[in-house]
Amino acid sequence: MVKKRENQDFVLSLLQERKGDAMYDGGKIIPGLVIFVGLMTYPIWSGNAGTTPKPVKPTGHEKCVKHKEFMRTSHMVLLNEWRDEVVRDGNREQIHIGDKVYDKSLQNGCMHCHTSKKKFCDECHNYTAVKPYCWECHIQPKETI
Ligand code: HEC
Ligand code: HEC
Ligand code: HEC
Repeated sequence: MVKKRENQDFVLSLLQERKGDAMYDGGKIIPGLVIFVGLMTYPIWSGNAGTTPKPVKPTGHEKCVKHKEFMRTSHMVLLNEWRDEVVRDGNREQIHIGDKVYDKSLQNGCMHCHTSKKKFCDECHNYTAVKPYCWECHIQPKETI
């Protein structure tokens, strides 16, 4: 009986010591964390371009199918519209940009100008961790480099 009590006291005292340690370490861990998070996010808040996506613009083309700001935020919406028009409505009416015409098509439209999936689409998608499943069926352009 006495023995058990002693054990309990011993365990309790251990627990208290641990707690004391944890509190003590907190003094180092918290500033440590602040510095760590600061370092990890440095490229984001410093505007350091090193890690932000840099999609390579197509050469020989001035404009996208819609203006750049729209494309940046809404290209997936446009792709869905094109797909629905082509697949559901059989509407393959081509789009005109300047004096050129392009197919309303992922492969033959978008990728006709944006010839590198890797250096254009993936550049942003990898950064934001988006993985469009389109390429399971649609053929991506052959990467030249
Ligand atoms: C006629 C050639 C052409 C076609 C077709 C085309 N693009 Fe573009 N795209 C461009 C050019 C050129 C730019 C750069 C425009 C600028 O800087 O003002 C651009 C810009 C973009 C941007 C913005 C990039 C950035 O840095 O913000 C996205 C996203 C984009 N295109 C996606 C697409 C998608 C998706 C399709 C198919 C639905 C498509 N483009 C079809 C030529 C094209
Ligand atoms: C300027 C950066 C940028 C470029 C360049 C870009 N994308 Fe995107 N894309 C995004 C972002 C960000 C999302 C996710 C948007 C969201 O989650 O709302 C996205 C989403 C998508 C989606 C929807 C995927 C899903 O799972 O919802 C498709 C399809 C897509 N992109 C196709 C393309 C294609 C094809 C190209 C190259 C021709 C391209 N994108 C180039 C930034 C970009
Ligand atoms: C399961 C296979 C499959 C997947 C996955 C798929 N597609 Fe398609 N898509 C097709 C087929 C088949 C057609 C019809 C082709 C035709 O009639 O020209 C088509 C047509 C299209 C068209 C119009 C014509 C063309 O040649 O591009 C667009 C735009 C399109 N898909 C976009 C997308 C996008 C964007 C994604 C990913 C978010 C996607 N598709 C994923 C099978 C697929």
